[in-house]
Amino acid sequence: MRHFSELSDLGPAGLVAMLDASDKHLRDRSSNCARPLARKNIALVFEKASTRTRLSLEVAVAELGGHPIVIAGATSQLGRGEPIADTARVLGRMVNAITFRTSGHDRLLQMMQFAGVPVLNALTDDSHPMQLLADLMTVRRVSGDLSRLRYAWIGDGNNMANSWIEAAGLLGLELRLACPEGYDPSPRELARARERGARIEVVRRPEAAAEGADVISTDVFSSMGQEAEAEARRRAFLGFCVDEELVARANPTVIVLHCLPAHRGEEISAAVLEGPRSVVWEQAEARLHTAKAALCWALGVDD
Ligand code: CP
Ligand code: NVA
Repeated sequence: MRHFSELSDLGPAGLVAMLDASDKHLRDRSSNCARPLARKNIALVFEKASTRTRLSLEVAVAELGGHPIVIAGATSQLGRGEPIADTARVLGRMVNAITFRTSGHDRLLQMMQFAGVPVLNALTDDSHPMQLLADLMTVRRVSGDLSRLRYAWIGDGNNMANSWIEAAGLLGLELRLACPEGYDPSPRELARARERGARIEVVRRPEAAAEGADVISTDVFSSMGQEAEAEARRRAFLGFCVDEELVARANPTVIVLHCLPAHRGEEISAAVLEGPRSVVWEQAEARLHTAKAALCWALGVDD
């Protein structure tokens, strides 16, 4: 059974193949595409808020001919403490696959252990692989060959940063992350990516990461579940706003990514988000095409 818990489940060649499949879904969208998920029910379980992930998965399943069932943690028994293992076994008897957005990564692993059907990671505190598929698809479409570009991550060493590190490891990318002290990404992810040959550096100054970059990515300073730390984080991340001054240090053809939602004036300025180097709307749309590719892969059906 194929679970998609992290990018490494795909391997380097599988990751590239999934980007190719995503491009195909983009091209095929206007034609009356095949319906490989016909007669399949897919549960989309969310224990955290979502706009893009929910929308892209729900539309993806529907356009591929399947039936999406959105289950919100708060209005299901999960929200009242029913164990993941029990929910997983019930879901697995009725649906063909599950996508799961949750807090602790261990909750995702429990879902995978007990569901008996493919489970896809729709974001945990540790990683956000489905977003990285969209990010890489966007970079490849706009800037070309992924391997010849220099990547910068500016901000929190969070789930998105960890998935960027994993992508860098799989594809051998050059990635510089600027994170304030105390907000570093996962040491395990860094070590794994370096073992795989990625050229990765963690620096303290955003300018050092932005210098000569072809791709700049950022994300919120406080992720979902960290609301109580918001004030302390705002202080710790002073100077980490991706603004025009910072972007000017990058390569003139740099593109700026943000997985969204964005906080203008905090991690990114309004001028950059809405400016000519920003590709955030293409990036958001790519969630749909990559979601289709990921679902087809996990279910073992042809794209
Ligand atoms: N980027 C992303 O995952 O957005 P949502 O939280 O809206 O799903
Ligand atoms: N790091 C953010 C990503 C949101 C898509 C969070 O976890 O809230």
